[in-house]
Amino acid sequence: MCRRYISLLLCFILIGTSLMASTHKKEKPTKKGILLVAFGTTVPSAKVALVNMYQKVEKAFPDTEIRWAYTSAFIRKKLKKQGEDIDSPIVAISKMADEGFTHIAVQSMHTIPGLEYEYLEQTVKSIMEIPKGPRKIEIGRPLLYAHEDIEVTVKAMIANFPERKKDEAMILMGHGTPHISNVFYPAMNYYFAEECEHVYMGTVEGYPSIEDVIAKLKLNGIKKAFMMPFMSVAGDHAKNDMCGEGEDSWYNMLTAAGIEVECIIKGTGEMNEVVSIWVEHLKDSFDKL
Ligand code: CO
Repeated sequence: MCRRYISLLLCFILIGTSLMASTHKKEKPTKKGILLVAFGTTVPSAKVALVNMYQKVEKAFPDTEIRWAYTSAFIRKKLKKQGEDIDSPIVAISKMADEGFTHIAVQSMHTIPGLEYEYLEQTVKSIMEIPKGPRKIEIGRPLLYAHEDIEVTVKAMIANFPERKKDEAMILMGHGTPHISNVFYPAMNYYFAEECEHVYMGTVEGYPSIEDVIAKLKLNGIKKAFMMPFMSVAGDHAKNDMCGEGEDSWYNMLTAAGIEVECIIKGTGEMNEVVSIWVEHLKDSFDKL
């Protein structure tokens, strides 16, 4: 009698838990989404790069919903005043979670794994600790990450260089950062040197500086150079720091040093060869979802 009672009770518990499990599964059908994360820009002419990046991702993932988030609070605030509302990564992921996205591929559209990327990793880690959130989030690495990424990026950049004579240089303006990942910029000079002559990477806010670049150009007797940004968007830095009218713009500093310069205002997000590298990184992380 007593034994029969216990087995009946066990039976009820088993049925109960299996019912709970099945209703739980019914609540959350798998829904995959993509979130593209960039620093952002307020320069209208620079937005073409972000539009192009979006279109290339859309082409690679025609059946998946794709959204944007900007990491820069300053840019989001400025855009809001202009009537454009772009979410931060944490808000964008939270909204997606609320809308039932169970698996999210968060793609860093940054150039290096610097501060913005590190914050993104921390954001995702924190969100995963909140109950009833997405089941899985995978972060896609930025443009430069592993050795192979640098190799393909160098080739993609070279494909977008203008035709130049043997003694004409190509100057690239990287952003630069106080973060350890600034090493990618001087490293790029090494990788470029393996492929072609006279490519000089400088940075606005890190090492090498434009002074370092000018010293190298002089040492190599360069009289003429082309210059383009090594940033996803040709925004404020390209317009002002690179080719602006100010005395300390790279254009004017190079001209003062006796070097003839031609500016190319084009972000790497406008270069399909480069954008396809970000898309490949997104495919890698999407496959892991
Ligand atoms: Co900046």
